[in-house]
Amino acid sequence: MDAISVIRAKRDRGELTDPQIDWVIDAYTRGEVADEQMSALAMAILLNGMTAREISRWTDAMIRSGERMDFSSLGVPTADKHSTGGVGDKITLPLAPLVAACGAAVPQLSGRGLGHTGGTLDKLESIPGWRALLSNDEMLAVLRDCGAVICAAGDGLAPADKKLYALRDVTGTVEAIPLIASSIMSKKIAEGTGALVLDVKVGSGAFMKNLDDARELARTMVGLGRSAGVATVALLTDMSTPLGLTAGNALEVRESLEVLAGGGPADVVELTLALAREMLAAAGVHGKDPADALRDGSAMDHWRRMITAQGGDVDAPLPVARETHVIPAPATGVLTTLDAYAVGVAAWRLGAGRARKEDPVQAGAGIELHAKPGATVTAGQPLLTLHTDTPERFPYAIEALADAVTVAPVGTAFTPAPIVLDRIA
Ligand code: URA
Repeated sequence: MDAISVIRAKRDRGELTDPQIDWVIDAYTRGEVADEQMSALAMAILLNGMTAREISRWTDAMIRSGERMDFSSLGVPTADKHSTGGVGDKITLPLAPLVAACGAAVPQLSGRGLGHTGGTLDKLESIPGWRALLSNDEMLAVLRDCGAVICAAGDGLAPADKKLYALRDVTGTVEAIPLIASSIMSKKIAEGTGALVLDVKVGSGAFMKNLDDARELARTMVGLGRSAGVATVALLTDMSTPLGLTAGNALEVRESLEVLAGGGPADVVELTLALAREMLAAAGVHGKDPADALRDGSAMDHWRRMITAQGGDVDAPLPVARETHVIPAPATGVLTTLDAYAVGVAAWRLGAGRARKEDPVQAGAGIELHAKPGATVTAGQPLLTLHTDTPERFPYAIEALADAVTVAPVGTAFTPAPIVLDRIA
């Protein structure tokens, strides 16, 4: 077997055989296939696609490149959620302890932000003392004691994907549906969850800009999960505007705490409850209703235990940025657009995100929204507050927001998009 014949086969729109796929993933993980060869193959896949059989075998080969975790010793059904990434998407923070409070165990392996999308681990690291890196034994202990754990995936889990994802990120090959689906599902299947709910984001702030692409990605991932014995469901959800009223690490932790205390923005609560109900149903747990667990404080109790078990000080004040800048509403009328991608880029430029994997992030940086699409605003009222420790970044963030806002004349009929756009099971 050699890399060039595999690349040529896909370049010429052929179907890769099982032995070709097994070999190329294994040889790439071992360093025998070079980065430039894998880049060429990834580009051929992006341009020419893959059949369902190829995607399934590719996913399986990535799972076999590393270890598989097993939570069966817990004796409790497990359920996980994966979001394809968005702006202001803090849902994992209230969701994991909420589902734990309702009786399922939640082993949540999460990632860091890259580009304009935020990452769950960066958000939680704004809590003083909190640790993302746990050994497999520590992860199991937190899960057993607290019902939920949110941590980084260890190096042993799907190492082929770690290498390939980093390569795709710098070769313009992230957006291939077969590669996104196999990347996400190889990690989730190797993680060993019994049930999985996928939150596939659609809109300007998401990888998938339109519903058709999002449906294809969702169907591919649901198929992969089910054939691996994981009860998998996908919700397609709106990412044309940021979720909630904050984008940025500590700002989003604060908003998540509001949800766990029974308050918080309506869209964050709605999506958290929708995903929680799907996770519990997929795991076959039919006990407490998640809305009750937000009201009665049991979700907050699970949060406090989970954060404390990972070294976090739940009572410490969250970091606050040193400087703020207010952007006013440009006109009086109905706010019809507050673009997720623009807000994500602006938050990133303020220091909430990173340009390279090794860059630090500012815990306090980000953007607060004072209105959401559908609201009536008055010219000059505060619309956005930008937060950063480094005020020299303000002009770049303001530039990113230049076309982010549309205000229509007073009285314009406008119905914001629903949060949940479709369900694929
Ligand atoms: N998230 C992943 O884990 N992989 C992708 O390819 C895209 C998003």
